[in-house]
Formats: sequence, C-alpha cells, structure tokens
Amino acid sequence: MCGIVGYIGKQAAAPVILEGLSKLEYRGYDSAGMAVFNGETIQIKKSVGRLKVLEELTHGGATMPGNVGIGHTRWATHGAPSDVNSHPHYNASETIAVVHNGIIENYLPLKEKLVSKGYQFVSDTDTEVLAHLIDYYYKGNPLEAITKVMHRVQGSYALGIMFAEHPDQIFAVRKDSPLIVGQNEDGCFIASDVPAILKYTRKVYFIENQEVVRLRADHMHFYTVDEEEITKEPVTIDWDADAAEKGGYEHFMLKEMYEQPKTVTDTLMPRIKDNDIVIEELGMSDDEIKAIKKIFIVACGSAYHTGVTAKYIIEGAARIPVEVDVASEFRYRKPILEEGTMVVVISQSGETADTLAALRESQKLGHKVLGIVNVVGSSIAREADNVMYTWAGPEIAVATTKAYSAQLIALYLLAMKFGKVRGQIDDATFIDMLESLKKLPSQIEMLLSNKERIQRFANRYVGAKDVFFIGRGIDYAISMEGSLKLKEISYIHSEAYAAGELKHGTISLIEEGTLVAAVATQDALFQKTLSNMVEVKARGAFVLAVTNEGNTDIEKAADYVIYIPKTHPYFTNSLAIIPLQLFGYYVAVGKGCDVDKPRNLAKSVTVE
Ligand code: F6R
Repeated sequence: MCGIVGYIGKQAAAPVILEGLSKLEYRGYDSAGMAVFNGETIQIKKSVGRLKVLEELTHGGATMPGNVGIGHTRWATHGAPSDVNSHPHYNASETIAVVHNGIIENYLPLKEKLVSKGYQFVSDTDTEVLAHLIDYYYKGNPLEAITKVMHRVQGSYALGIMFAEHPDQIFAVRKDSPLIVGQNEDGCFIASDVPAILKYTRKVYFIENQEVVRLRADHMHFYTVDEEEITKEPVTIDWDADAAEKGGYEHFMLKEMYEQPKTVTDTLMPRIKDNDIVIEELGMSDDEIKAIKKIFIVACGSAYHTGVTAKYIIEGAARIPVEVDVASEFRYRKPILEEGTMVVVISQSGETADTLAALRESQKLGHKVLGIVNVVGSSIAREADNVMYTWAGPEIAVATTKAYSAQLIALYLLAMKFGKVRGQIDDATFIDMLESLKKLPSQIEMLLSNKERIQRFANRYVGAKDVFFIGRGIDYAISMEGSLKLKEISYIHSEAYAAGELKHGTISLIEEGTLVAAVATQDALFQKTLSNMVEVKARGAFVLAVTNEGNTDIEKAADYVIYIPKTHPYFTNSLAIIPLQLFGYYVAVGKGCDVDKPRNLAKSVTVE
C-alpha cells in the first residue's frame, strides 16, 4: 500500500527517490509521483501507471534536478487512479508539497471548511486537504503548521512534506501508517519500509505515532506533536541486502518459496533446546499457561489461515478452546474477552491496520496480546505485550509464502508448549512431534524439487474459470490458503470449502471438467473426504488430490495425485501447502500475470 521515499543531501534527489520507490513496488500501487526542489520552485511530476512511466517521464530523474525531494507510489483509496489524484499534492501557490499514506477520515468536513475559506481543490483525494490545511496554518514556521494539522486531522497518515521557503528541510510525520527515517554521510532519507533505503544506510529510526521529524542534509531532529524535541535511538538493520533482491529467480515469489526450508529452520531451531520448546519471548510462566481459559487468534488473509490451522492443533493438542477471527470483523463486533483469555495476533508486515486495531482493542479491554510478527520494529511488534518473531526475512512478493510457513511453525511451537505444560502431551509424543518438526525443512525441499511436475499440471489450467479446494479439519485450513494463493495471483475464481459443506449448495457449480483440489492428509478424516471426492467426480469434476505417501486408495477417486511425505498429522499444512503454492504460481506465470505484484493488491495493508 502507498510507498513514500524522501531524500535531502548531496546527491541528486530524483534518482534516489526512483530507486527507493522501485524497492517499494511490492507494496502495491497504481500511480507514482515525485516533487523536487529545483533551486527556485518545487517541481512535481506524476502519472498513473507503473513506476517506469514516471521514470520515462523524468528521464530517470534527469529532468528533475535538485537535492531535496519526496516521492510516492499511490494505492488509490479516495478518488480513482489518475494523474491528478496521484501524489504529491500542492497548495495553491505550489510552495508546499505533500505525499501521504493512510486515510484522513474527517477530510470532508475539513474540505468544506477550506472551500468556504476560498481554497480550491483539483483532485478527489483526502491528501489534498492536507496540503491546503498546512498552507492555512503556515505562517513561516513549518513545524508549527504541521503539528496544528496533526491536531485537526483524524485517521491514519505517514507524510512526507516539503516547503519551497525552507528548501534545506523536509518533514516526516506518522500516525498509524509505517514510516522510517535513516541517515548516511551524504544525506537523510524517509521511507515507508527498510528495503527502500537499505542500499544507502542500515541505521534507521522508527518514527512513533504522532512524531515529527525534521530532516536536513546532515542531521535530523525529532519532535512530539506538541513541538517538544525528543531524542531517539537508531536501530541497525542486519538484513542481508541481497535478501531484498531476486537473486537469479524469475520472481520474488519463486525465490521466497525456495527460502521456505531455511525460514522454517530459522523459526524453529532456536526455540528447541534439550528436547524442549523454549519460547522466551512468550513471557509466560507455566502457571500462567495453565491458567489460560481461551485463546483468541486474530489476523487477516493468509495469516488468518494459519490461525485456522492453529485452532485445530491448539484445541487438539492443548485442549484450550480457540476462537479465530478476521481482524476487520473482530475490531467492530464488541468481542467478549473473558478473564483468562489470551489474544494472539498474527501478521507478516506488522502493519496491517485491522490487526493493529484488534490488538489495541484487546489491550483496551485489559488483555495482554502476543504478536506473531515477521517485520522487526513494525507497529504490531512494538505495541504487542510480547512478540514472537517469525524469522522469514524480508518478504517482497505480495502473495505470502515463506512468512506463512514461518507463522505455522510459530503456532505449532505454541500449541506443543501449551500442550506439554498443561499435561496434554506425554513425553514420548512430544519427542516424536519434535522429530517430525525437525524433518519439515528437508521434506519441504523435496516437495519443491518436484516443481516441474506441478508446472506441467498447472499449464493445463491456465484457462480455468473456477477452481474449488476442499478438505476437512486442518485440510480445510490448507484449502483456504491454496485457494487464496491461486486466485490472488492468477485471477482465476476459486473457493475453499469444508469438504462436507460443499453439497449444501456449492456443488451445483461443478460442471464437466471443473477442477476440484481435494486435500486429504488427516487419516482420521480420509474416508470422509474420499466420499466427497467421489461425489464431485460423479458430477464431472477433475479431481486433483493432495495426500500422504502410502494413501494410494485415493487413486480410485482422484484424476491426479500429489503425495506429501509422512509427518505428524498436525504438521501436514507445512507440506501440503508447497504443491498448492507452486500450482498457483505456475498457473499465474502461464497466464502471464504480474506474479509479484498482482493487480489491486498491496503487501502492507495499512488502511482498513
Ligand atoms: C496473501 C497475503 C495476505 C496477507 C494479509 C495479512 O498472500 O499475503 O492475505 O496475509 O494481508 O498481512 P499481514 O500478515 O502483513 O498482516
């Protein structure tokens, strides 16, 4: 979702901004723009479309000389994607330029007020209100004007702001939308996310809610919304810069799928010690674990799907009731969180607006929240009471793969830890489960090495209209993720159904040749799912089955079978998802889709 990059320093700003924005492309956007101070005025160029349109428009930044600038990739919320709605936005005299990520909720009353005072608007965006409102309050002191605006606006915002009258400064402001600043010997940077400036600096500062940063070429000053200066400590980013590059793979998504054995190892192994599971970050004593009465898992999209998997495992292995909710529903449905309820939020980015709001809502109701988060220093990581990191490294492809796999591991560890402490898992079973966990990386590797076979199968389905995924129990959770992977990147309509539910309506959509992917990895439910496969096959479906090695009976009901290696029944998701990810990927590649940046999607969903 919208990307912001700003630069002030010795180098030409435009190329730095274009380069930075290209590293934020993964966030999803539909238009791009830049503002650069050329020594006399603030020059703006912007255009709907991919970043390369802006690059061509500015000859790689050469037509926008100057050492101070801000840039933006826009993911439309207020107003359609268009040149005029693209950022940056100006005030009337073109002396103030603003880029914005987030939503100004009270922009309409503010706009009416400004119009009544003679301000004229050229775009349909909420952001333009900010440019005019800053202008309204600006009496020569940029910091004063900005903080006044912060007191007036409601909603979420990360802002980059520049003033023609103060060309030696740019400003960064944040509330509920991510923004960082960084510095090197040449200058200072603003960015929505670390990859944008990793090439230039590893020393970054995470801006907290309602803080303002004044950046000059050689230093930065931090302020509260009341203009009080504050000091902040930098964080050193220790990512390998290559981690945010494609490294020879055709797409980030493929690269990230191939990183899954490592991701699983990195998330798992540091937490296994002397045949036990040690999750120091959990911050809970055994007595506290024994006292848990209920767990509420809240997340969005694929992270929600890992929560659905966890429900089956935690309830089965630890006998703790689990409720799973999508964050956008949870936050507004007045959730009942009784005493003894533990809240777990799951998020790769750590910035998903609804998940963050769910976390805050839970804390407001007096509950501690455990965050399972991938991005170190993200909002959820900072606000959760305890954080269990998934060590997946930067995930660039919009469709999650490796972070999803890492989230599963974190949740398995929690379930096993709780099960053991509460006396629900005996020692022998526990050791057996640990052994199964340790085998997952090599088993995933083996499944990935089979990619050509899946690719050949996927090529047959590039013209598919509808695809259904079915499964029971954990297999239903896997189906949900398999279905999402396919539809989000290939644009083929797809749905996941609990296998027993299909005949309550949806089976009427099955026609001759419709692809039904049946996941059947749970021995206890195998025969039941087999019956559902027979039902759809009898109605003309082509059945793809994903099951455990040895379950050759399935060949009676399936047209095509993918076998996964044997593991503990609780962990089959980690294996069954691999061929389904590959399937979605190769269908999308076969259709010529923009796999890493699917239309309309954003990597970091920072608006609700
Ligand atoms: C799908 C996908 C999304 C995210 C969802 C939550 O491939 O990536 O469904 O899982 O937007 O994002 P995070 O985990 O960043 O909170």
